[in-house]
Amino acid sequence: MDIEAKILELLASAESVSTLELASSLGVDHQDVVGASKSLEADGYVVSSVTSVSQWKFSAEGLDIRQNGSPEFLLWALLASGSKQQDEVVTALGKEAATVAMSNGMKQKLFKLTKEEGNTILTRDPKVTTLEDSTRRLLDAAAKGGHVDPKDADALKKRKLASFDSVKTFVLVKGPSYAPTRGSKAATDLTREMLADGSWQTNTFKKYNFNATGREPLAGQQHPLLKVRQEFREMFLELGFQEMHTQQWVESSFWNFDTLFVPQKHPARDAQDTFFISKPDQSPTPDADYLKRVKDIHEEGYLCDWSANESARNVLRTHTTAVSSWVLNQLAQSSPLRPDGRRDFRPARYFSIDRVFRNEEMDKTHLCEFHQVEGFVVDRNLSLANMMHLLNQFFRRIGIEQLRFKPAFNPYTEPSMEIFGFHTGLKKWMEVGNSGVFRPEMLKPMGFDEDVTAIAWGLSLERPTMIKYGIKNIHELFGHKVDLRFIKKSKIARY
Ligand code: PHE
Repeated sequence: MDIEAKILELLASAESVSTLELASSLGVDHQDVVGASKSLEADGYVVSSVTSVSQWKFSAEGLDIRQNGSPEFLLWALLASGSKQQDEVVTALGKEAATVAMSNGMKQKLFKLTKEEGNTILTRDPKVTTLEDSTRRLLDAAAKGGHVDPKDADALKKRKLASFDSVKTFVLVKGPSYAPTRGSKAATDLTREMLADGSWQTNTFKKYNFNATGREPLAGQQHPLLKVRQEFREMFLELGFQEMHTQQWVESSFWNFDTLFVPQKHPARDAQDTFFISKPDQSPTPDADYLKRVKDIHEEGYLCDWSANESARNVLRTHTTAVSSWVLNQLAQSSPLRPDGRRDFRPARYFSIDRVFRNEEMDKTHLCEFHQVEGFVVDRNLSLANMMHLLNQFFRRIGIEQLRFKPAFNPYTEPSMEIFGFHTGLKKWMEVGNSGVFRPEMLKPMGFDEDVTAIAWGLSLERPTMIKYGIKNIHELFGHKVDLRFIKKSKIARY
């Protein structure tokens, strides 16, 4: 059917046309009428104004009940001639309708169920002598536009038979280029043929619609965490830091704890805080000399036995500081010893941003894994002042200008400081990281000269990302509940 022609024809004599009324009088889908009117409007034949009306919509089941009666009523009618076995009911009504009929009918106390030799028998409740099919009556009233009590409307909706929804409809009036029939459609594109036969000179062309929303580009999008990671990475590189290789998630306790002077009896080593790996449960021991020096410093410092067996246990790394330790040791090993007994040592700056794992209770702000941003600078005679300056430089670049430091404790740093930053958006001080000067007990076994110090800090990548993107629940950012549309729609982060 040519709906466009119909609209133009009606407007020749009528003041206005309602898309909804036209759809029902033509017996076509409302959306098709809307489509036709939009096309006419684009060429100026009509002008539309939008209104919304509430309208009943019936489900297939609702339509069926309106025509044939509700399942419970049909069952009640079926039982007029006496009790029936459940199988007979299923044959008569169909499996689905029989189930609905029995469940609704039992609720309304229309029937009784009895068991006889393994068969279920249905009988009318003698107390119900007459029954009106109220569901059918309601659906009928709704379809005819009669009054339906809000409570009843709710019941219909709940049973998924019908719903009273508001629909957008349009009222159409004549437009500036109205004509009772449509001329040839305006061309959208200049074609080779038009140029060849000269028809381009007389053709009308559709105006460009510069307000149309463009099509969403079908491109991949980086996850917000990865975008922020890239920004952090670039910032580190600008400050002269090198990236550490952190792709190995499983570490031995030796690198994750022992080289960091974390005592073997430290609570963080407990299975409650750390994920231990069972296959394989241990890693080969590293360089025997270094191992011995680590063992000695533990036994000296903590006055208790140190077990190589405990040290070989594999864990999912709990921090990337395990990698910092490995890199520092490499650095010491590759610094040649001079004749004066000191090492020819090169100062260095390293960073990493990668996953770490902790056996934590999960809630809105905690997951069992997160990304740690980690950096360290190693040089001779670095002081706390150097460290505070460096942290100020770093955090200023991520938009946190004011810092406060609070004394803290880490087994591997002394002094240790928690870092608080003032969030100008939220107008409050928030913990943004942890830092410290690596202890001599950590650096000495590696073979560094005594005046070599390393200052280091760590923070999570998730927290600044959540603040940046206004995310309150970490599950929206990371893990299996992440909505892919959120990733597509999220803005490119800028600091
Ligand atoms: N490893 C620390 C943590 O897990 C972060 C840190 C790194 C602290 C370096 C001090 C020095 O929180």
